[in-house]
Order: sequence, then C-alpha cells, then structure tokens
Amino acid sequence: MEQDQDQLHSYIENLYAEDPDLERVGESLKALGLKDISVAPGYGRLLTMMVRMTGARRVLEIGAFGGYSGICLARGVGPEGRVVSLEVRAEFAELARTNLQHAGLAERVEHRVGEALEQLKRMEQEGERFDLFFIDADKGNYPAYLEMALVLGRPGALIVGDNTFMRGKTLDPAYQGGGPRSMRLFNERIASHPMLESTILPAYDGLAIARIKD
Ligand code: DHB
Ligand code: MG
Repeated sequence: MEQDQDQLHSYIENLYAEDPDLERVGESLKALGLKDISVAPGYGRLLTMMVRMTGARRVLEIGAFGGYSGICLARGVGPEGRVVSLEVRAEFAELARTNLQHAGLAERVEHRVGEALEQLKRMEQEGERFDLFFIDADKGNYPAYLEMALVLGRPGALIVGDNTFMRGKTLDPAYQGGGPRSMRLFNERIASHPMLESTILPAYDGLAIARIKD
C-alpha cells in the first residue's frame, strides 16, 4: 500500500494538462546544463492559488532562477498586480525574463539584480510594502529574509519559504553547516514568532507558509 514519493508525484502530474510555459522553463535550464531546482509543480500551483486567494497585488520573490515560480506568481497577481523578483545572478534574471516573456507575463514582473539583503534594506527605507513573499534563494540567509519580510509585509501578508527540509539536511544533526543551521532557525521562527500564524507542509522538499497577524 505504501507508495513512494515519485509514484505519488507522477500520479498527480498525470492528472494535470501540460503547461507549455512552465515546461519551457525546464527545457531552458536543461539547454544550459543547469540542474532544475525550480519549485515543485504542486507548490507552483499552490503559489498561484495563494496569490489569488489572498488578493495579493504586490508580490516579492527572493530568487528568480529560471522564472518558474515567477510565472506562477505573475499568473496569480493578474494584469493589475506586480511581482518584484530579486536575483543575485544577472544570467538567471535574464533567463527568467525570457521565460516570462514567452509566457506573456513579463510586464507584470520586475527583476532586480543584486544582493537580496541590500535590496531589501533599500526597499525598507523607500517604504515599499508587499502582500506576499516567496523566499527561494540562498538558504543561509533565510532567517534574515524572514526578518525583512516581517518589516516589509503588510498586516495579513503571506510569507512562503521553499526547501524547509533541504533534502533531509535540516533534520540531520550531522549537518552543521550554515545552510541547514539557518534553515532550522528559519523553521523555528516560522513556528513560534509572535507576529506569525503558520504551517509547514511536508510534501516535496517542505514549504513554510506563514501569515503576518493583523
Ligand atoms: C535545491 C532545490 C531548491 O528548490 C532550491 O531552492 C535550492 C536547491 C536542491 O535540490 O539542491
Ligand atoms: Mg527552492
């Protein structure tokens, strides 16, 4: 009776129609010889739904990579909404833009290239505020990104974080490097921060979903 994760994932993906705009992202990564570390398809669909369900109009993504989650977020915000996507590597921002253009969504997404923490601090000074955050970048900075999301988030804003398990490293005390240690701290804060209500989904590589209390 016990199915492994791959069987469950392929069962689910077979239920859904092909999604050429998202499949193009995978193909573009493959063509460049890059490992596809885009958000899982089930979480991509969830991102679109969370943006729509909350009516978020201003979304901040930390980590663009190939644009997969950017497409999912841009679908959710609708034609009037905006996604700001922070990406440290110019070539990834460029790739994400190309894939968003193919999907007809580029005008909803503004890519900003540079260190995310510096950009977040500048946004704080400039009074920029957001309704939903998707954190999917360097794992060592997750606690700092969470702190900045708490500053830049409006009451009721959602803070979503990918890879809370780090393929098991988060749970394994043998891993004492910066990434897993930071992810443990991030998860602890997600679960216990007095400003947040939250849950952590165990499918795929783990997804944290928190809401800033009103
Ligand atoms: C990996 C997966 C991710 O979703 C990510 O953001 C970073 C790394 C990985 O599987 O290595
Ligand atoms: Mg990820």
